[in-house]
Amino acid sequence: MDTITETSAKAYIEENKERFLNELFDLLRMPSVSADPKFKDDVLATAEFIKRKLEDAGADKVEVCPTAGYPVVYGEKIIDESLPTVLVYGHYDVQPADPYELWDTPPFEPEIRDEKIYARGACDDKGQMYMHVKAFETMMQTNTLACNVKFMIEGEEEVGSDNLEIFVKENKERLKADVILVSDTGMISMDIPSITVGLRGLSYMEVEVVGPNIDLHSGLFGGAVANPINILCNMISSLQDENNKITIPGFYDKVVELTQEERTELNKTPFDKNEYKSSLDINDVHGEDGYTTLERAGIRPTLDVNGIWGGYTGEGAKTVLPSKASAKISMRLVPDQNWDEISDLFKNHFESIAPESVKVKVTAHHGGQPSVTPTNFPGYKAASMAIEEAFGKTPIPTRDGGSIPIVAMFEQELGLKTILLGFGLASDAIHSPNEHYGVYNFMKGIETIPLFFKHYADVKKA
Ligand code: BES
Ligand code: MN
Ligand code: MN
Repeated sequence: MDTITETSAKAYIEENKERFLNELFDLLRMPSVSADPKFKDDVLATAEFIKRKLEDAGADKVEVCPTAGYPVVYGEKIIDESLPTVLVYGHYDVQPADPYELWDTPPFEPEIRDEKIYARGACDDKGQMYMHVKAFETMMQTNTLACNVKFMIEGEEEVGSDNLEIFVKENKERLKADVILVSDTGMISMDIPSITVGLRGLSYMEVEVVGPNIDLHSGLFGGAVANPINILCNMISSLQDENNKITIPGFYDKVVELTQEERTELNKTPFDKNEYKSSLDINDVHGEDGYTTLERAGIRPTLDVNGIWGGYTGEGAKTVLPSKASAKISMRLVPDQNWDEISDLFKNHFESIAPESVKVKVTAHHGGQPSVTPTNFPGYKAASMAIEEAFGKTPIPTRDGGSIPIVAMFEQELGLKTILLGFGLASDAIHSPNEHYGVYNFMKGIETIPLFFKHYADVKKA
């Protein structure tokens, strides 16, 4: 590809900046919350919106493909069968925006403040996914599309991608590609570009502890009958020991320990503990003994209570010994832990530590396998070259603590590796009130994606 067309791609992006942003704003106005059935029509309308935008950008065979849940939007542009094919994955659903009162401006009324777009989904994943639609448009309009491209944009990522595996299994031929490209992760900073090469897996459980058959007077019965909340708290606290190691038997059996060399490398990632603490208003960090904060949040498994409830939480005081208590507990997993196995280990252990005085019920919600991507294959090389060209710096490979379970599934079902070309920042408040995404990040992403296509075609040719 010559420099003239590249210059024109950059110029095209700059010229169309305002329209790109306006379109993203239209997308962000649609409350596509997959977890809450009351937004069902909005989620479906969002799929139709993506379909139209893919068509407008020049994709062929665009289709809203029904599944047992929310649909997958598919589209493609095959320019030459002999060229490599990039399969772009993203998600158009978002997390619930609750609690609304903590947002400075309404979550579905996007607004730019301080060069950042504020809205639910601005970063995760509408802003990042839409960069691909606009990068594709740019490549079409400037005649610079260097690979075939396929799009698979789903609407159930935030609720566990339950139906995507079936879709993938049923569409193996249609999804044939050489590599998968995803922008749904982050970078260390815009000055220190990085590429995510590891994601943690997830096992998400719900537990219920049941005591007496009704709520009791805590004076008449307290002290003589087990209180399910007290018991639940004891059980939960016993899941970690004094060194913050998880006590579930067998939990660490399959954890791959990194070599000292790999750990040294990982800990070279720029990280300022004081800045980290002050940004979170905490006096100290916390975690498994013997590991750094970077390691605790990237290569070590965890167990966290996400929510806990039971008894009286209304105004004033009500003396009650509750009949039931519940909690949602998630475990982040690392290679080679298997989420089905860990869910079973958790269930068996949790049931075994329950005292005779209560009954417990343990159910598994969604989960997914951890994944790691090598740094020595064409996809990574192309991504590294693209970032180097766009940012002027070689990216650092990092391992993120978050989970995108479908990455391991793609490898298993399609035999394809995934490049995580993410442009978010840890400070973007994804899943939180006031989620935002930098206008600069959005534009830089649109500029970097075509460079990935160009370098990928080159690396594959070589
Ligand atoms: N995009 C995130 C995952 C992510 C964000 C990974 C930043 C790395 C860096 C994704 O949408 C997400 O929220 N995943 C969930 C898991 C899913 C099964 C609900 C998560 O990590 O909690
Ligand atoms: Mn996401
Ligand atoms: Mn998310």
